[in-house]
Formats: sequence, structure tokens, C-alpha cells
Amino acid sequence: MLFTTLFTALLLAARPAIAVEIDMEGLPETGLDTSTWTTGTLPTLTDMWSPNDFQIAAKNVLTKKKYVGFRTAAVDEITYQANLNMWQYVRLLSYTFRDVSHVSLKTSILGYNFNFPFFIAPAANAGNAHPDGELNLARAAGTRGALYAPSISATKSIEEIAAAGAAGQIMFHQHYVWANQSQNIDELNRIKAAGFKAIFLTIDNTGIGGVRIRSLRTTGAGGDTGHAANFDLTSLAAYRNLTTLPIVPKGIRTWQDAKKCLELGFPAIYISNHGGRTLDSAPTALEIILDIWKHAPEVMTGLEVYADGGVRHGTDILKLLALGVRAVGMGRPPMFANVFGQPGVERLLDLVRDELTTEMALMGVNVPTDLNKDYINTKYIENNWLN
Ligand SMILES: Cc1cc2nc3c(=O)[nH]c(=O)nc-3n(C[C@H](O)[C@H](O)[C@H](O)COP(=O)(O)O)c2cc1C
Ligand SMILES: *[C@@H]1O[C@H](CO)[C@@H](O)[C@H](O)[C@H]1NC(C)=O
Ligand SMILES: *[C@@H]1O[C@H](CO)[C@@H](O)[C@H](O)[C@H]1NC(C)=O
Repeated sequence: MLFTTLFTALLLAARPAIAVEIDMEGLPETGLDTSTWTTGTLPTLTDMWSPNDFQIAAKNVLTKKKYVGFRTAAVDEITYQANLNMWQYVRLLSYTFRDVSHVSLKTSILGYNFNFPFFIAPAANAGNAHPDGELNLARAAGTRGALYAPSISATKSIEEIAAAGAAGQIMFHQHYVWANQSQNIDELNRIKAAGFKAIFLTIDNTGIGGVRIRSLRTTGAGGDTGHAANFDLTSLAAYRNLTTLPIVPKGIRTWQDAKKCLELGFPAIYISNHGGRTLDSAPTALEIILDIWKHAPEVMTGLEVYADGGVRHGTDILKLLALGVRAVGMGRPPMFANVFGQPGVERLLDLVRDELTTEMALMGVNVPTDLNKDYINTKYIENNWLN
């Protein structure tokens, strides 16, 4: 008995670090082997093969509170899950007998040239993933020729992020309509002076952030966002007077608001449900865009359309491009990849680039603008979810 106890104790002492068990949250199985990982330690960057792998790596290395801050979404996360799952209701239609020896992902976004039709979406507090925070995202976007639009709720200043970019690198900047008008004026002036070329003006959580239960549990009450709750067309007009930079409303969720933006003369709109973090049960980008095609098709040709929400793979991007979207944002994946710093974000961009390049060739297209509705079947969504 004593011997058995001693023997067990010795065995336990000699045992290597207990294999990490991570709840994969229902993400697609990619063969990622976490059995050799140590909790709180970065795994090997070259083991990251799927954009989703970075989420598991971040979950392993970040404190629970920091991970939850990135991962959280509103209420029962119906929209968060729908963003991830809606892609499976769309089929890609590909064509053969075509020369696809010259695939290029290059495109223009608001008139500026970029290497990819996908970009790093604004997400607050990148510093919770890495001490260099947003600087890594700016640098990785720079080396890859991708668009990055930092959040106004960043852990680095407007000027620091601008300075991290490469010479000539084009970046846009996200902004909110603050209740404090002096802050709006001050920040818009600084954004322009720092060289950012456009504003993604987030309008889907004016006055209030979402009810994010995971974050409430880890960080306590949400508190006042400082956003102007009285934001309407009059305050929008006043806000537009504050800058000469082009403004792109971000967080369009209905065809009616999309049409309104066309009427108001915006050069582009950004379809988004904020990664499911604001109004739970808001529709996904696919549904919103199909609704626009049905009820206000003039929007799709009258301005540039950007979109995000649950984009994790080249195929997700293809589906949005085929619906007439000009550029597709990714929010969480770059934030998670940033636990590895700049090389992590670069690897993420490279993985998505390689997926998309391969898939464009498999589709029978050479450039993003070749894609159109002949390349997708969206009947399931149209028949089941459209108004
Ligand atoms: C951690 C986090 C912070 C975010 N912060 C902002 C923000 O400050 N401003 C904003 O317009 N959108 C913000 N978003 C929303 C993103 O811009 C984007 O719409 C969303 O993340 C896309 O969904 P995805 O994460 O599934 O890619 C944030 C998203 C996350 C995950
Ligand atoms: C409003 O913004 C200005 C400029 O950023 C700042 O100096 C001031 O303290 C802010 N006022 C309030 C009440 O927060
Ligand atoms: C915007 O500025 C113009 C020109 O200065 C002015 O005529 C107009 O009243 C302003 N509009 C708002 C809503 O502030």
C-alpha cells in the first residue's frame, strides 16, 4: 500500500507537463495537436495552418480576461455563431477551360492600391495580445501590402501607429461619434495630420456597447462608451463637416440604411454586425448584402461596399467578393495572431493570401473583380432568410 502510494507519487513527479486540454469552441477540426503545448506558453508559429489555429494559440497563452475581451460577443452570441456558420449555406460555382496562370489578388480600395481584397478590421486594445499592440498590425500590413484600419480605442496613439507604417503605406482609421464634440474635432484633425486616408465611422453602437455576457462576467459592468446616443442625420451632417477625409459608415445592417448612405453621398459603406458584439440576432453580411441586391441594387453599383463578420478563410472572402463586395475585413483573427507579434500577423495574412490565390485559380478567375453572382449559389439564404 505504502509502496503503491510512493510509486504513484514518484510517477507524478517524473511526469512531463500535463498535456494541455483546450476547449476548441466547436471550431472546425484542423488536426492541430495541442498535446505538446504548455499552458501560458506560445506554441510554434509554424504549427499554425488555419486562421482558426491562432484563436486556440491565443486562448492558450492569454489570461482568461484578455482572451475573453477578444472573443466575447453579445448575449447568446446568435450573430457571432451565425457569422461563422452562414458560409456553409453558400456554394461556390467554378469554371474550367480557362487560363488561370496569372492570378493576382491586387485590388483598389477607395482608390488606393493594395495587394489583397481583404484587410485588418479595426479592433480595440490590440495591446492585450502583445506589448507592441497595433504597431505589429501596422507593420505586418505594411510588409504585405494590406490595408489596416486601427481602432480609435487603441493601446497606441494615432501618431505612434502612423509612424509604425512603412513609407508610403496607406492606412485608414476607425472613429466613433463621441458625445464630446471637442474630442471628435481633435481626433479627426490628428488622424488626418498623421496621414490616414479615410475614416471608418462606426455607427452601429452609438450610445451603447452590446450586452456582452462573457465580458460582464470577467470585467464587470460595461459602463458608458462615451458615444453620442443622440446621433441622428443632423449630428451626422455636423460630424461630416469636421473633416475633409472620406468617411465610410461602418456597421450597416439593413438595405434601408445602405440606401440612405448612397443618398447621403458616401463613397463607400461597410456592412458589419461588429462581429456579433452589438445587437444579437442582427443578420450576417451575406444576408444583408443579398437584401441590398433584392431591394436596392443601385447601392451595389453606386458606391464601394466593404464587409466583415466571421471571415476566416479564402472561401469566405470569395463568397463576399462574388456578391460585389470590394474588400473584406477580418477582426479577431489578426488580433489572435498578434500573440506571436508581427510574424504571427504576417503568417496569418500569408495563409489567407495563399488560400485565396489557390481558390481563385480553382474558381477559374484571375482577379477579384472577375467574380460576380455567376460564381455563387445563394438560394438557400434567399429562400429562408430574406425579407
Ligand atoms: C476585440 C474586438 C474589438 C473591436 N473593436 C472595434 C472598434 O473599436 N471599432 C469598430 O468599429 N469595430 C470594432 N470591432 C469590430 C471589428 O471591426 C469587426 O467588425 C469584427 O471583429 C468582424 O468580425 P470577426 O471578428 O468575426 O472578423 C471589434 C472587434 C473585436 C473582436
Ligand atoms: C472633451 O475632449 C477634449 C479634447 O479631447 C478634452 O480635452 C476634454 O477633457 C473632454 N471633455 C470631457 C468632459 O471629457
Ligand atoms: C457645415 O458647414 C457648412 C459650411 O461651413 C455650413 O454651411 C453648414 O451649416 C454646416 N452644417 C452643419 C450641419 O454643421
